[in-house]
Amino acid sequence: MSFDKLIESRYSCRSYTNEEVSDADLRAVLNAARLAPTAGNRQAFKLVVIKTAGHEEKLSRIYGREWFVKAPIIIAACGIPADNWTSQEGKNYADVDVAIVLDHLILAAADRGLGTCWIAAFDPDAVREILDLPAGVEPIVLTTLGHPADSGKSKLRKDIDDIVCYEKWG
Ligand SMILES: Cc1cc2nc3c(=O)[nH]c(=O)nc-3n(C[C@H](O)[C@H](O)[C@H](O)COP(=O)(O)O)c2cc1C
Repeated sequence: MSFDKLIESRYSCRSYTNEEVSDADLRAVLNAARLAPTAGNRQAFKLVVIKTAGHEEKLSRIYGREWFVKAPIIIAACGIPADNWTSQEGKNYADVDVAIVLDHLILAAADRGLGTCWIAAFDPDAVREILDLPAGVEPIVLTTLGHPADSGKSKLRKDIDDIVCYEKWG
């Protein structure tokens, strides 16, 4: 698939079949995440891969939508802010690093026909407890991963001129 087609094909998938994700596909999307750039190449993140089968009730506490636990896999992308790069002004780049990492994973999944959905509206306390996250590890964003039971819809986006300006803000 061309890169342009890949970008168009990715969408937030909120409906999954029962089909398992193969180990080869899982490994490939995790490797795409591994290759993502991080500030200062700190690589201060960890992806917690969760197989949902048999744990649906518990995992529903993380994010209560019915479709969430129907995906065969949930991935929690975590940063370790004390180890992520921080600018001179004190801005910590854990969120940025983890977003790039997860975007790599999500695009690699789309390239394999797999569905994903970014999820930020999760309960962080439930994630910490259920995944046994140590202090200092921050769950930043999650995604589901599985075979789509729906198809993508057209993208509602602003025009290029609304999101870009040149030389100066305006
Ligand atoms: C950082 C981030 C957090 C998001 N959190 C959620 C979420 O908690 N629940 C959800 O259903 N969708 C979530 N989304 C998906 C967005 O609603 C979706 O990407 C947007 O509407 C554009 O649709 P598309 O992904 O199908 O192109 C999130 C997306 C991003 C990038």
